[in-house]
Amino acid sequence: MASSIKSAEDIAGMRIAGKLAAEVLDFIAPHVQAGVTTGEIDRLCHEYMVNVQGTIPAPLNYCPPGYTPYPKAICTSVNDVVCHGIPGDKVLKNGDVINLDITVIKTGYHGDTSRMYYIGEPSIMARRLGEVTFECMWLGISKIRPGAHLGDIGHIIQQHAEKAGYSVVREFCGHGIGKVFHEEPQVLHYGRPGTLEELVAGMIFTVEPMINAGRREIREMGDGWTIKTKDRSLSAQFEHTVLVTPTGYEVLTISPGMPAPPAGILIASPGQPVAA
Ligand code: MF3
Ligand code: CO
Ligand code: CO
Repeated sequence: MASSIKSAEDIAGMRIAGKLAAEVLDFIAPHVQAGVTTGEIDRLCHEYMVNVQGTIPAPLNYCPPGYTPYPKAICTSVNDVVCHGIPGDKVLKNGDVINLDITVIKTGYHGDTSRMYYIGEPSIMARRLGEVTFECMWLGISKIRPGAHLGDIGHIIQQHAEKAGYSVVREFCGHGIGKVFHEEPQVLHYGRPGTLEELVAGMIFTVEPMINAGRREIREMGDGWTIKTKDRSLSAQFEHTVLVTPTGYEVLTISPGMPAPPAGILIASPGQPVAA
């Protein structure tokens, strides 16, 4: 099935949803500290979304085929948790690393973004994994333009991760997004240049590499959602929602507190008509 091309109205709605999702990550940053539980982080984000933003947390009760309904508003993935960590009684401690993954719905449109946070002082290893994963995401985004292929994105991410001695999780990928949370296309974080679907202006999808410090294999926990590395190595992830524009790309999940892209990479390609 082909990926959908968004209308001007869709794009306007997705800019708003993207910004709101990123602003939840800004809001929660000062609360991500030693002694706090992942359940408390979820509660604070959930209240901010519903009461301050007037957004709906997309994960809550989300139920893809073969899954049980997701029970919380956000995903909190600590240390060797690759993705879909369910918030609960886990107390964060110094040296932990955590990915917070936020998806909001505003007037029917989804914004999806995630960042890594460090509790206290991270190990040199954890910091480097986070940095390389962040670079992987941005290198992938930097390939986006009409005429490029999805395989170009996957290839550069895989190259950068493996050059650092890390591995790319294969079972989860980026995805088209709009009025639907997960839609075509699948955006693999590994692959070969020039392969897979050609990008066309108006497509919107996420880039969200999951990079493991050790081997790429994963295992699913008994809760039906939480994914961990099989070898218990650390895992990191960053995610943005991105629009393909006539001249390149525009990152939609932007906010004042977002970490700046690596040197030489822009949040939007030059020559975009700037949004109001
Ligand atoms: N936000 C995740 C993604 O990037 C999906 C989470 S599904 C949930 O695609 F149900 F676990 F929240
Ligand atoms: Co996503
Ligand atoms: Co997400």
